[in-house]
Amino acid sequence: MFLVTTPIYYVNDEPHIGHFYTTLAADVLARYYRALGKEVFFLTGTDEHGLKMQKSAQERSLSPKELADKNSSIFKSLWDELGISYTRFIRTTEKDHIELVKEVFLKCKENGFIYKGEYSGWYCVGCEEFKPESELLEGNACPIHLKPCEYITEPTYFFKLTAFGDFIKDFLKSGAVMPAGRVNEILSFIQEGLKDLSVTRPRSRVSWGIPVPFDKEHTIYVWFDALFNYVSGLPSWPASLHLVGKDILRFHALYWPAFLKSVNLELPERIFAHGWWKVEGQKMSKSLGNVLKPADLITSWGLDEIRYFLLREIPFGEDGDISNDAILRRINAELSNGVGNLFSRVIGIAIKFGKTQISGLKDVYYCNKAEEFVKSYHSKMQDIDFYGALEEVMSFCAFLNKYIDTKAPWALKDEELISNVLYALLDGVSLVCSCLEPFMPNKMQKALSAIGLSAPIFSPCAKQSHRVFNQLTLFPRR
Ligand code: MSP
Repeated sequence: MFLVTTPIYYVNDEPHIGHFYTTLAADVLARYYRALGKEVFFLTGTDEHGLKMQKSAQERSLSPKELADKNSSIFKSLWDELGISYTRFIRTTEKDHIELVKEVFLKCKENGFIYKGEYSGWYCVGCEEFKPESELLEGNACPIHLKPCEYITEPTYFFKLTAFGDFIKDFLKSGAVMPAGRVNEILSFIQEGLKDLSVTRPRSRVSWGIPVPFDKEHTIYVWFDALFNYVSGLPSWPASLHLVGKDILRFHALYWPAFLKSVNLELPERIFAHGWWKVEGQKMSKSLGNVLKPADLITSWGLDEIRYFLLREIPFGEDGDISNDAILRRINAELSNGVGNLFSRVIGIAIKFGKTQISGLKDVYYCNKAEEFVKSYHSKMQDIDFYGALEEVMSFCAFLNKYIDTKAPWALKDEELISNVLYALLDGVSLVCSCLEPFMPNKMQKALSAIGLSAPIFSPCAKQSHRVFNQLTLFPRR
C-alpha cells in the first residue's frame, strides 16, 4: 500500500496557495499510484493545539475548540471542493489521536528519553519553537515570522535528542530524505551540536494541548503531538512518503526520526521537502496583503490549469514565483498549443477520414519511442520529479506532432497506411492523456472518454484498436 501524507495545517489561518501546493503534490501521487492499480492511503488534516491557536482564539473571543472546529472545516471543505482525493482527514483534537500521543509520551519516558529540567530560551509563537540565538535577527526577531521572539524561563520535560545524533545522521545519509541539498542543511545543523529538546510547556502558559499523562501541570509540545498524527492517522506504519515544505523539514527529518526511534517505531520510507512560492516576486505575507488563496487563482485560470502550473513551473524542491504572466505562458505554450492542439489535431484527422474505430499495424519506430517515454515518465514520477515527468510528456507531444508532419496522413491514399498512422497517433494521445491524468484529472478524464477510455492506460501499443467518439477543445487559448 502506498501511504502518503501532507503536513497537518495550523487552523489559526485560512488555507493559502502554500497549503494547496503540498496537498496537490500528495493528490497527484495518490492518483498516479491508484491509476497503476496500487492501493493508496492519503492522509491530510489539521494541527489544532498550541499557543498560537490559544492566542488566536482569545483574540476572537472564541474557545480554542470553537475556532478549531470552524477553521478545520474550512480546510476540509476546500479540499472537497477542489477534488482532493484524501482517504482520511485527521484532526489532532480527535480522541484516538490524543490517546495515542499520551501513550507514546509515556512509553518514551519509560524508555528513559524524557527527563525534567528547566528551560530558558527565545520562543517564536509563529513557529511554535524555541529558536537558537544564532538564528535570531535584529531585535531577537524570528527569521521566518520577522516578529520578536519571547524570552522564557520555565520548568519543562526534555526529550534526549542528544542520544540520537548518530542514528539521525545515518538516516539522513541513507537517501530517504530528499532533495539532497536540504539534507546538508540539517546535517550542518547537527554538526553545530545537538541539544536536548524541550517537549512540554507549563499548563499555566499553554493549556490548549494534550496533558502530560504523568504530570497534569504540563502540556505536550505541539510538534510532538502533531507529528504523531501520521501514526494515529495511517492504517499501518511506516508511511511510504511524507511531503513537507522546506521550512518544516527539520522537524520531520531530525526530531521525528528520534521520537520514533525512542518508542521503537520504524522510520518513514521517504521524506520530500518542497520549496516555497513567492507571489509576483514577493514573499507572501498578511502584512503585504498578498496572501494568495487557491480559490481565487482557480477562479481566474481553472483548476486543472493551476494544478499543472504549480507542478510544472519549477522542479519540485526548488523555490518559485507565481505570476499571471507565467501562468498565461504555461497555459498557452504547453496546454493550448501543446497538449490541446495535438489532441484536436489527431481527433480531427480521424474524423476527416471518417474513422471512429482504428486498428492498424504497429509501427515499431513509434512503439519503441512510446515505450521509452512511458518508462522515463514512471521513473520521474517515482522519484517525485513532477517537473521532469511533465517534461517527458511535453517532449512526447512534440514527437507526436512531428510524427504527424512527417507521415502527412492527409496526403495518404492507402487505407491501410492511413490506419497504421492513425493507430500510432491515437495510441500516443491516449498515453499523453493517461500520464497527465493525475495532474489534470478533470480535463483528462473528459479527453480519455472522448477516445473511449474510462481509465488511464500506460502500456504502449497494447490495445488492438482505438476509438474516437468526439472532438474537444481541451484548453482554449487565453
Ligand atoms: N502544523 C505544521 C505542520 C505539522 S506536520 C506534523 C505547519 N502547518 S502550516 O499550516 O504552517 O503549513 C505548512 C505547510 O505549508 C508547509 O508544508 C509549508 O511549507 C507550506 N507553505 C507555507 N507557505 C508556503 C509558501 N509560500 N510556498 C509553499 N509552501 C508553503 O507547519
